[in-house]
Amino acid sequence: MATEQKRDEQSMKPAPRVTVPAVMGAKGRRKLTMLTAYDYCTARWVDRAGVDMILVGDSLAMVMLGHEDTLSVTMEEMLHHTRAVARGTQRALVIGDMPFLSYQVSVAQAVENAGRFLKEGRAQAVKLEGGASVLQQVRAIVEAGIPVQGHLGLTPQSIAKLGGFKVQGKDQEAVNKLLEDALALSEAGCFSLVLEAIPASVAQRITEAVPIPTIGIGAGRACDGQVLVIHDLVGLFDRFVPRFVKQYDALGQRIMEAVIRYRDEVEKGVFPGPEHTFGAIPS
Ligand code: KIV
Repeated sequence: MATEQKRDEQSMKPAPRVTVPAVMGAKGRRKLTMLTAYDYCTARWVDRAGVDMILVGDSLAMVMLGHEDTLSVTMEEMLHHTRAVARGTQRALVIGDMPFLSYQVSVAQAVENAGRFLKEGRAQAVKLEGGASVLQQVRAIVEAGIPVQGHLGLTPQSIAKLGGFKVQGKDQEAVNKLLEDALALSEAGCFSLVLEAIPASVAQRITEAVPIPTIGIGAGRACDGQVLVIHDLVGLFDRFVPRFVKQYDALGQRIMEAVIRYRDEVEKGVFPGPEHTFGAIPS
């Protein structure tokens, strides 16, 4: 954890919010950290742990709502969760993930929906997926004063086109396209760029080519930062575990064990004990 933050914790003053210029300025100086969060309590813990950015990812469709993919989550659902995360954070830069069809249909709709993440969701930036096809949208959103994070490689909103959750950038043509798109997104005004499920050597080339920080997920160590889905990191989501995930805990298992102990104690009449019970009102 940064010394700066420790000092702020000791003085009980709220730590200053990580800014977009601070994220951009970190390139080549220090590694950036980003994690997803979708609710108030989790956001508070993640924020206190000192990560730079919290992404309210559209992955919430899968890990919070149980959908098969990210396609069906709505603007209203995304805003609902973004507001909760914003209420739980003081320090991390909060990024709202623009859901499928909230920015692809028209530039005007993209700007309006991006604005809603800041106005109603209280996020400080938005993320959207894609390269050449979304450049106009990126330019217009940035022009409106809204910071945009790009997302290339495996872009889950395009799984129908990609044929599933597959590693991208595996031939020369695909690598060239990724490099072109990354440079174009940076020129269009993105402040950072998520690179998902691409070979480490390709992520390294992109990282060296663009002036903005790259944030990798399944893209190797050379990226300027890393992002994971919080449910993967703590071992809560067990439907599948992608190869690029490191589980730092087995929270799902620990929750189940705690619930089994509770059930057992209730069934045996051990819980609630006297210390959890109110006495009679003195007469
Ligand atoms: O929705 C999400 O969680 C994401 C991350 C995997 C980058 O887009």
